[in-house]
Amino acid sequence: MQGSNDKSTLKEQYAGLVGNEQIIEKIDAFKANKSRENLLFLLEVIHNRMNDDGQFLIPVIPSQAALDLFTSEEVKAGDTVKSDANLHFRLNTLETADGKKWLVAFTSYKEYEKGEASSIITQDIRSYINIFNKDCGYEGIIINTWSTKFFFIKDFIKIMLNMDKPQNHISFVVGDITKLEVEAIVNAANSTLLGGGGVDGAIHKAAGPKLLLECMTLHGCKTGEAKITKGYNLKAKHIIHTVGPRYHGKTEDAMLLYACYINSLDLAKKNNIHSIAFPAISTGDYGYPAREAAVVALKAVIGWLNSNEEYGMEIVMCCYNEEMYNIFMGVSRGE
Ligand code: APR
Repeated sequence: MQGSNDKSTLKEQYAGLVGNEQIIEKIDAFKANKSRENLLFLLEVIHNRMNDDGQFLIPVIPSQAALDLFTSEEVKAGDTVKSDANLHFRLNTLETADGKKWLVAFTSYKEYEKGEASSIITQDIRSYINIFNKDCGYEGIIINTWSTKFFFIKDFIKIMLNMDKPQNHISFVVGDITKLEVEAIVNAANSTLLGGGGVDGAIHKAAGPKLLLECMTLHGCKTGEAKITKGYNLKAKHIIHTVGPRYHGKTEDAMLLYACYINSLDLAKKNNIHSIAFPAISTGDYGYPAREAAVVALKAVIGWLNSNEEYGMEIVMCCYNEEMYNIFMGVSRGE
């Protein structure tokens, strides 16, 4: 609250503004060249300042009780005031010629001093910007009104707030699923859940003997269904065991294989998991033709992501060799 004429105290008080100069640099760069790249650089800098608990200086209109208290002698800048008086502040907003209402923010005390004085308080960037998570009636925030003024419009704010959210994504890798650094790996198991060959054997070997002990408590798993255990010695914290269909060339095969992916993803979501790796289920011992299996697998995971677009799930399709990788990539390109 600007009320003391001891500026050094005020500046100490504004420690949360340290680092905001990066914002001004990126605003200047964006105003010099309004490229998409420069805009993203600017949004990233504000996003980083927000995550570093950075602050803005914001102009406010204090209630009379607050004014009386803060202009009295006994309170000086930096004091902590405990009072039951209604020391509320209203946000000091701006209305542009087109009638649109804007919030205002300054990145530093120096920027604030460039224009007419007003009451100001420090506010962490996150809580000030979070009001745009719902319709708040403001067009955005004008940053540094008295100089390089950047109109931080609500669409830009929404893009920046989304930078926090885990994004839905599918990637394809060649490798050993037991080595992947994801939250969960999926095991192409058999209905006993007591281990076997192929990826099942590799996972049990890498996870260690405690996995089998936990699997014994699960009393098996039906084809198309999924059950979860810990990851034990794996980098992944969880293993989702699903049982793919043995290929018989029937329509039911595709339905059961589809269910393996959907039920594994649903189980992952239920456990608040946001990154998961799948092997090419049923394409080994269970004889499912690789390309047909890849078509079913991608239909299932893309369909699931479309039905859960707000969730944010990183899906890795882990192919054990280049041949399988090329099949999955070909199917993903619609070949
Ligand atoms: N990482 C990733 N993928 C692997 C790995 C591994 N370490 N090992 C094998 N794979 C691949 C295979 O190359 C194949 O493409 O996993 C795919 C599935 O093959 P299987 O492991 O044979 O699984 P599936 O065809 O579903 O048959 C399941 O086989 O291993 C037994 O106990 C399992 O009885 C069950 C049956």
